[in-house]
Amino acid sequence: MPYAPLADARDTDRLSLRLWDEWDADGYRLLVREREEARAEREGDRVDEGRLLSLDAARAEVTGARENAPRRGIHCLTLRLRGSDEFLGYCGLVVGRSTIDEPELAYELLRSAHGHGYATEAAAAVVDAARETGRDRLWSTVRTWNTPSFRVLDKLGFRRDHSTADELGEIVWSMLDL
Ligand SMILES: CC(C)(COP(=O)(O)OP(=O)(O)OC[C@H]1O[C@@H](n2cnc3c(N)ncnc32)[C@H](O)[C@@H]1OP(=O)(O)O)[C@@H](O)C(=O)NCCC(=O)NCCS
Repeated sequence: MPYAPLADARDTDRLSLRLWDEWDADGYRLLVREREEARAEREGDRVDEGRLLSLDAARAEVTGARENAPRRGIHCLTLRLRGSDEFLGYCGLVVGRSTIDEPELAYELLRSAHGHGYATEAAAAVVDAARETGRDRLWSTVRTWNTPSFRVLDKLGFRRDHSTADELGEIVWSMLDL
């Protein structure tokens, strides 16, 4: 692989970024529920139980995320306050709609953790770690309604590059040269 593996642990002033553990399954399951509740609210729809995870499915996803991290070289890390075990969300690099050479920055936090600057703080650490892998560029793809996410990208120095569209509407691609 032409790139160094993404760091699998990092501390910031307030946060501890670590690989997933099996006991993060509960928190991840709640995150997926909150994501679906937010979608339903935006679209004036009902929560679709089919989009939610059982505890077993959540456990399989988080243990899979941990086991696959070394093979892929990029991954997402869980976020906690330093000194706490409580899962707040995750942040990391994913191929997503982009490529392994120029991956996407990803972040998603539980509602209870929004509004404290945690996403920006964690993402800044991931950007530093991405630079250390030897990569030159990161991308982010965000739907037009997602104002908080655009604000996080602005604070990190991403600039909007172009848009694409799928059946759900416009997707804005932002880029950060490392
Ligand atoms: C996007 C997300 C990660 C941001 O997490 P966070 O920890 O609250 O983010 P931060 O506090 O670091 O920064 C959020 C910024 O958006 C601003 N913001 C939040 N809601 C806003 C709104 N409705 N209108 C304008 N600005 C808003 C905040 O004021 C803050 O900016 P500031 O520091 O200039 O005041 C969080 O909202 C989330 O998990 N959303 C659901 C998942 C998601 O959308 N992930 C991204 C997919 S592309």
